[in-house]
Amino acid sequence: MTGRGNAWWKKGVIYQISVASFSDSDADGLGDLRGIINNLDYINDGTPHSLGADAIWLTPINASPMLDFGYDVSDYLSINPRFGNMEVFEELLDACHGRGIKVIMDMVLNHTSSEHPWFVESRSSRDNPKRDWYVWRDGRSPGRPPNRWVAVVEGSAWQYDDDTRQFFYHAFLPFQPDLNWRNPEVRAAMFDVIRFWLDKGVDGFRLDLINFLYEDVLLRENPRRFGMRPYDWQEHLYDRSQPESLEAAKELRRITDEYPGRMMMGEVYTDTPEDAVAYLGDGTDALHLSFYLDFAQRKWNAGDFRESVEWLEGHLPPAGWPCYYLNNHDLPRTYTRLGRGGDAEARAKVAAAMTLTLRGTPIIYYGEEIGMPMSRIPRKMMDDPIGKKFWPIPVGRDGSRTPMQWSGEKNAGFSQGEPWLPVDSSYVERNMALQDRDPASLLNWYRRLIWTRGKKPALQCGNYRALGGTPKGVYAYVRERGEERIAVMLNFVSRERSLAVPRDERGGSTWRILLSTHGEEGAEIDASLITLQPLQALVLEGI
Ligand code: GLC
Ligand code: MG
Repeated sequence: MTGRGNAWWKKGVIYQISVASFSDSDADGLGDLRGIINNLDYINDGTPHSLGADAIWLTPINASPMLDFGYDVSDYLSINPRFGNMEVFEELLDACHGRGIKVIMDMVLNHTSSEHPWFVESRSSRDNPKRDWYVWRDGRSPGRPPNRWVAVVEGSAWQYDDDTRQFFYHAFLPFQPDLNWRNPEVRAAMFDVIRFWLDKGVDGFRLDLINFLYEDVLLRENPRRFGMRPYDWQEHLYDRSQPESLEAAKELRRITDEYPGRMMMGEVYTDTPEDAVAYLGDGTDALHLSFYLDFAQRKWNAGDFRESVEWLEGHLPPAGWPCYYLNNHDLPRTYTRLGRGGDAEARAKVAAAMTLTLRGTPIIYYGEEIGMPMSRIPRKMMDDPIGKKFWPIPVGRDGSRTPMQWSGEKNAGFSQGEPWLPVDSSYVERNMALQDRDPASLLNWYRRLIWTRGKKPALQCGNYRALGGTPKGVYAYVRERGEERIAVMLNFVSRERSLAVPRDERGGSTWRILLSTHGEEGAEIDASLITLQPLQALVLEGI
């Protein structure tokens, strides 16, 4: 019996795959499910020669016009034909399960594509039975939207429909109309979708914008406030994180719990981390994991990351579990964002050591493990609606979605056809095949971290305790479970730093080097002071 203490979603490492960008098997330039099947050995072949991920999270694979990278679903029960079909998906599921890899699907419950038949019906007339499946309202007066709510991306969150002379609500882009979760038929339909995929055998869901499901029924105005972009000029009291959305998350948990071993992780889109933590409920009755954006937005600074971790550790419900990531398909890649000139590689190694040894479930974004940079995409080649419309500020998200750099061959080994987004020019020197052969590469550092984590329960689910009295620039902590003690020391600066070696209760302080960015693995340390090399990451085991 697997207890809560070692559920796979707690101890495992999740690998996020942007399906369109990972591997293209049929030369149409777009990655696909077969491409993932072909590369499962890379993800986990059961030996330390592979990455060793325990689960893959696939960005949306449901049928979609793909105006927002698949986050605009037109049929929740089918597979996007550009990615494959149901048979291939089942094959992928079986192949993963055969290797002990879990499969997590992205689920977009807040909105559909405007091409979804439900919306096509809904907008067809005011008395269509599906009218109330979306959020339709009269304007305040002719030409004026029902209220002043703004969309996350830009402008009013209300779009006028000429034919039926009402506005529909869209929290994100106008082609992503929000479903009306207050309608019991909508709830039932979406819960059926969830059951359909659970019945099929998927192991979990990544729930898109989970705190956006409900909006205030009275459409009350948000208070104004100062902020960087128009969306931030309002305090989002009434258009997100409504109590009913948390209730829906709890209902989803009840459904998921009917199927043993499944999980839900949620994107709680907010600038208040309290909100994100709230979606864990008491740690057993809502989401299993909630994304913690604060951590992913920190600057390159030991104290900053430590502060972020301590905040989460201090605010989780007792049975709650942290989740850390630095990269995803919406964020600038950290190799570029946190890296600085000649330090980028060393910093990436320190960042990897941190993400993979903290107490919490780590999520790695494809390409992060080989240090793929944030690519500069020429404007005319952009695909992201945000980039196309707003470049250069913001530049859009395409730069973090370029094809996986497998090798130095044509199109970086991603596709035999013309890739949907240009391959980053760094692929010639920076690719999987080269790093695979180099023991000192970033890729092999990720592999060693993940496989070491897999062998050490203290790293998977042990306690976390930050070490005090560390010099500036160093973040150090101890992970403990039973007799097992692991100390992690991360030097964020390009200078040597010395710190006291932690002692156990019995005064013992003998450690063996489990992992080091600077060699000496296996060596014993029996001194009271340890000197970290510039940008060194060190993982020690108490002996
Ligand atoms: C989430 C996704 C993002 C998408 C948006 C709308 O934030 O991560 O990629 O554009 O939701 O569905
Ligand atoms: Mg909504």
